[in-house]
Amino acid sequence: MESSGQSLQGRAFGVICGFWSSQTMLAAARLGVADHLVDGPRTAEELAGVMGAHAPSLGRLLKALVTLEALTAEGGRYGLTDFGRGLASGTPGSFRSMILGVMSDDHRRAWAELSHSVRTGETAFDHVHGVPVFEYYGKRPEASADFNAAMTSLSAVVEAALREAFDFSAFRKIIDVGGGNGGLLAAALVSAPRASGVLFDTPAGLAGAEELLKARGVAGRCERVAGDFFESVPAGGDLYVLKWILHDWDDRRAAVILRNCREAAGKGARILVIESVLPDGDAPSPGRLSDLNMMAMTGGRERSASEYRGLLEAAGFRDVRVRETGSPYGIVEAVAG
Ligand SMILES: C[S@@+](CC[C@H](N)C(=O)[O-])C[C@H]1O[C@@H](n2cnc3c(N)ncnc32)[C@H](O)[C@@H]1O
Repeated sequence: MESSGQSLQGRAFGVICGFWSSQTMLAAARLGVADHLVDGPRTAEELAGVMGAHAPSLGRLLKALVTLEALTAEGGRYGLTDFGRGLASGTPGSFRSMILGVMSDDHRRAWAELSHSVRTGETAFDHVHGVPVFEYYGKRPEASADFNAAMTSLSAVVEAALREAFDFSAFRKIIDVGGGNGGLLAAALVSAPRASGVLFDTPAGLAGAEELLKARGVAGRCERVAGDFFESVPAGGDLYVLKWILHDWDDRRAAVILRNCREAAGKGARILVIESVLPDGDAPSPGRLSDLNMMAMTGGRERSASEYRGLLEAAGFRDVRVRETGSPYGIVEAVAG
């Protein structure tokens, strides 16, 4: 007996056709539906006029968005729900960039070959596109900008939870390794007004950082350094932050990044690894799907607390502990030994 009381077929329909829901949201994000509704409700015909869309087809999309609880419908006019407001660009908590980045064609084509990864142990992205994902972004500024914006948007979800769970104000030099656009480092620097920051990433990863750091008022305290964390990591930090970095890599490569962090960090410096920490064994967790995302996209993996502990201790860190954050992500914290 299903605990939800749903039939097995109903449940299968919901899971399998989840794809239709995400495609519906993608179409709305690409068309800018929510951007045209932020100033108030409109009819399908009015919207079609301003968007240059086919009104009868747009009407059907709008009704589906009502079903997904992104829109309200009243007297023939469509308006945004709180959820739907996230589909607009630049609204607080907007997830439009997340949809455009995570559901981009390059991602979806890799996911379509997940079975190839499972059959062969190879990374679907590399199989489909012929190069690993970060090399691909290095050559395609537009795709890289979409990915960075998606990371920033996803990151916003956890920044508040992290600031609550961890006191950044005790540190004077915070180094964000693979920090991308710098959303997390900016949030940390706002919480630590006396600290300076180093945002370290590839040139493609740093492309949108200046704008974000300026907008958050921390550009004057934050140096941007381009490099390769498999070669070295900037020295002199008393806090090293790695958010969604180790999960991109297999154990051998993750160990190299951590050893380079250990070499760069003075004895007693702290490291924070922010990841979706998996439960041991077979227990269900949202991280299991993110683990498949890593399998398809990067060749990395999500890990359990004991796996992070093993990696960190082997790289020369001690006092490893794991904290929950009130978000789907955990903080694995350790001290350079
Ligand atoms: C999954 S993203 C996470 C970005 C950011 N930490 C966040 O949480 O939003 C991984 C980051 O690692 C960076 N990266 C990949 N390979 C790198 C390398 N060899 N050296 C430095 N950064 C790298 C990417 O450019 C990207 O910004």
